[in-house]
Amino acid sequence: MNGGSAFEVTQLTGPVLQANVDALAITSFGDPAKDPVFKSLDQALGGHLADVAKSESFEGKTGQVLSMHTHGRIPAKRVIVVGAGARADFANPSIRDVAAAVAQTANKINATSVGFVLPSFGGNREPLLVQLAVEGLYLGTYRFARYLTGDDAKKPQTLKSFGIFTDAKGKKPTAAQGRTFQAAASRGATIAASINHARDLINEPAAVITPVALAADAQAIAKKHKAVSVTVLTPKQCADLGMGMFLAVGQGSDQEARFIHMTYKPAKKPKKKICFIGKGVTFDSGGYSLKPSNAMEDMKIDMSGAAAVISAMDAIATIGSEYEIHAVTAACENLVSGRAYKLGDVLHSMDGTTVEINNTDAEGRLTLGDAITYARTKIQPDELFDFATLTGACMVALGPYTAGVMSDNEGLVRGWLSTADKTGEDMWRLPLTSRLREQLKSPIADMRNTGDRFGGAITAGLFLKTFAKDTPWVHVDIAGPASTSTPRPSQPKGGTGFAVATIVEYATTKH
Ligand code: BES
Ligand code: MN
Ligand code: ZN
Repeated sequence: MNGGSAFEVTQLTGPVLQANVDALAITSFGDPAKDPVFKSLDQALGGHLADVAKSESFEGKTGQVLSMHTHGRIPAKRVIVVGAGARADFANPSIRDVAAAVAQTANKINATSVGFVLPSFGGNREPLLVQLAVEGLYLGTYRFARYLTGDDAKKPQTLKSFGIFTDAKGKKPTAAQGRTFQAAASRGATIAASINHARDLINEPAAVITPVALAADAQAIAKKHKAVSVTVLTPKQCADLGMGMFLAVGQGSDQEARFIHMTYKPAKKPKKKICFIGKGVTFDSGGYSLKPSNAMEDMKIDMSGAAAVISAMDAIATIGSEYEIHAVTAACENLVSGRAYKLGDVLHSMDGTTVEINNTDAEGRLTLGDAITYARTKIQPDELFDFATLTGACMVALGPYTAGVMSDNEGLVRGWLSTADKTGEDMWRLPLTSRLREQLKSPIADMRNTGDRFGGAITAGLFLKTFAKDTPWVHVDIAGPASTSTPRPSQPKGGTGFAVATIVEYATTKH
């Protein structure tokens, strides 16, 4: 956590080389010798910047960072150059990593103020780049340091003020341009705050983020916004609704399950209702189909979908939406005990379907199945999305950075994927091959909860489809991207807050 501290984000004007900041930061797209902004800065520094670049083999590649003293040659004490690879390959969301690297370098050199020259591409990319750069600023300075007691962890971050030159010549913006800048910057800060909040929920141990704690978090968010309300159901209330699948998964834990339903209502009559469901298994031991220790080690992250939908509501309410937005999660722990559900049990789902359990580790689809039925019957949304760390098979198919998207509603899935393209969250479609349903046949119940090894992400999707019925629905398996062990500037190790950006974008823009 960056302690919730906010940065001062301003639009800088006047000659860039005269900026009165601790550090002046620019982006280099490949070979710095060919970059006009780099060249003018190098000239002002008497050719020393090019010398340092050469001696440190800085070639403007993605991930490379150069920093040097200016020794009084310009008012800024330091310059920071961040490599971003070839200009033609640069997608807008990559600016998050550039800004994150700038912020991290600024903190490393104890700078309190930065002047960042926003790269210019022409067209109308600027407001979005400002928003994404501010997101990168907050995402890149995120740390989960609550439990670190060493001096390093306690060292405060020095960076306070992040100025942005939207024009490399420092031309003064019009009043309207100034307002556009501020709106983009505050949108970025709001979205990043929700992403970082989701990261906190994911990174906290399962002993802290229990189903009850998750419900309290949703209530705290609702308390911040007049337009947001929340209903929390106890196991008894869930039993009255017939949620036999959800309750079975949670019954082996001493931590009581909670069903959480948040609602955002716009001021005007909404054009449509959108419901986002998140998988909220606060710890997944596998149950009696017990996971081996190394696979269980990270399973506090199994509520990443819930973290995303709950946290996103905060940003959605701050930004405002013309839609009615719902966030739903069936939160519980999947543990082993004398009360836990067993292999061979037959569960009664909320929609009446009976399910034979052939693997207690395929628990997510059980909790989601009842959540989907709740949404379909109680909310009746026009569009239904679910986000779940659902299958290892999805990671086998797509690798650890890409979410698997499944839907049989072409229009809805296209709209979703184009939104993900805008936010830069990696998502790729998998088919809902109906023939694979054979794998879910049970001799004694309507279906069983687990298929074979092949097509594991898809059979999980097909299982959920049973409950979505003909509600326009998109399933997003985030098992891979929900957390990371290979950090990048805008994404430290641990929970990533994946899906928050696309949920907020989808909920707050017209389509
Ligand atoms: N929570 C896991 C999936 C998971 C695995 C998420 C790795 C993140 C990283 C899920 O509940 C699970 O255990 N899935 C099983 C399904 C299988 C039993 C059909 C799996 O993927 O092995
Ligand atoms: Mn599991
Ligand atoms: Zn799970």
